Amino acid sequence: MSDIDRRTLLIGAVGTVGLVGLGGVAVWPRSGPSVGVSSEAVRRAEDRRRMTNQNVVDARLTPQPITLNLGGLVVQTWGYGDSLPGPLLRAQAGDLLRVKVDNKLSTGTSVHWHGIALRNDMDGVPGITQDPIKQGKGFTYEFTAPDPGTYFYHPHSGVQLDRGLYGILVIDDPDEPGKYDEEWIVVLDDWVDGTGRTPNDVLEKLQSGGGSGHDNGHMGGMDMGPMGESMRSPLLGGAGDIDYPHYLVNGRTPGSSATLTAKPGQRVRIRIINAGADTAFRVALGGHRMTVTHSDGFPVEPLTTDALLIGMGERYDVVVTLGDGAFPLVASAEGKTGQGLAVVRTGSGRRPGPDVQTSELNRQVVLSTDMTATAEVRLPDKKVDRRHDLRLGGSMGRYRWTINGKTFPDTDPFMVNEGERVRLRFQNRSMMFHPMHVHGHTFALTDGGARKDTVIVRPMDTVEVDLDADNPGQWATHCHNIYHAEAGMMTTLSYED
Ligand code: C2O
Ligand code: CU
Repeated sequence: MSDIDRRTLLIGAVGTVGLVGLGGVAVWPRSGPSVGVSSEAVRRAEDRRRMTNQNVVDARLTPQPITLNLGGLVVQTWGYGDSLPGPLLRAQAGDLLRVKVDNKLSTGTSVHWHGIALRNDMDGVPGITQDPIKQGKGFTYEFTAPDPGTYFYHPHSGVQLDRGLYGILVIDDPDEPGKYDEEWIVVLDDWVDGTGRTPNDVLEKLQSGGGSGHDNGHMGGMDMGPMGESMRSPLLGGAGDIDYPHYLVNGRTPGSSATLTAKPGQRVRIRIINAGADTAFRVALGGHRMTVTHSDGFPVEPLTTDALLIGMGERYDVVVTLGDGAFPLVASAEGKTGQGLAVVRTGSGRRPGPDVQTSELNRQVVLSTDMTATAEVRLPDKKVDRRHDLRLGGSMGRYRWTINGKTFPDTDPFMVNEGERVRLRFQNRSMMFHPMHVHGHTFALTDGGARKDTVIVRPMDTVEVDLDADNPGQWATHCHNIYHAEAGMMTTLSYED
């Protein structure tokens, strides 16, 4: 029996097994023999992660309206607390995180822990794992973080991520070899909120055909859509849908960039996170080559390069041995006009200006598909038990982005059983690139490729990934272009009961 037949058949026998979480919280799908988000299976999986004498890390997050100075640019926006990025959360692998969220926004929200293989009911996805945290209300997330790495957190509600609502979560490795002297966190973002448009305005404009090229694409100083000469990337094919007015590194515009300081000759680990909504960045450090050591938190065979390309939702850790002077760390908006900038200073030297060019950007540029997982994180050899094809479709014209022809919540869930090796094949049938993200799991690019939770699929290209279904529940699977996800490109990886 095919998966589809089986589903239809079983859903026919509805009623008793509806997924109703604690306190009558309605979750999706609302019927069918799927593993519930707060079921016994989910609790068992969390129990396996817990250790006796587990260390507890307590934190608080307050999503709220704020006025931010991004460096010469003052905006009204929403943030966690009063900084951009929000507070850095940090724990050791195996710790229990307990994060109390107080929603001071004027609308519902949630917090999703991007990349963490956590318990399903703490995944923070309204409509799938919880109800939104209402205005004025709170919610406490409590989960074990099993794997070390660079992660981030953000809302999973509408296009809120494209405001100032994001922060970094670092899970340290108790066995970290620590072959570096300093550690920096570099968060990249594309910025529009508070410049005359909110992300909601942008989405509305896209959905009303603002991106189709019928007008000449200008919207409050912002170009939209692939008709702009600049909106093309030889590396990616497409380049996103929005030419943003600003690109930020660590919440600063290039005109008033952050300075990262160290001593000449020191080895620095840089954790690079793309928290943008619609922009991939090409990243390089002037005068240096970087060695990529981790992709989405998991180690890769060290790969030395001049530049790397990072999609929305991806993270890379690199190690660099620093020269003497002042160097631009440039995050060029791939296929768009503009860049983010930080300055690395180890000695004297003129501060690079906001438009500084660095030749490394146009030398060797790597993507995750160029990387190999280290032996200890390679998926063990096993035959594939279950295959699913995800055909990615859509266009700027109607601004409707689909998986197998459907938009969320009408998309078909991808059914799996606990214990299976699952192969997902992302087939991009559109002219836009899509960074595809699976919650609650880390997949492997096939043939020993990098372990990841978010992978760029170029226009008309196909990417295959394998994962072990070892974390029961209902897991959002979507494009990490937040506008695409909001316009339908989302489904669930759904465990059968
Ligand atoms: Cu950062 Cu559903 O994702
Ligand atoms: Cu997409």
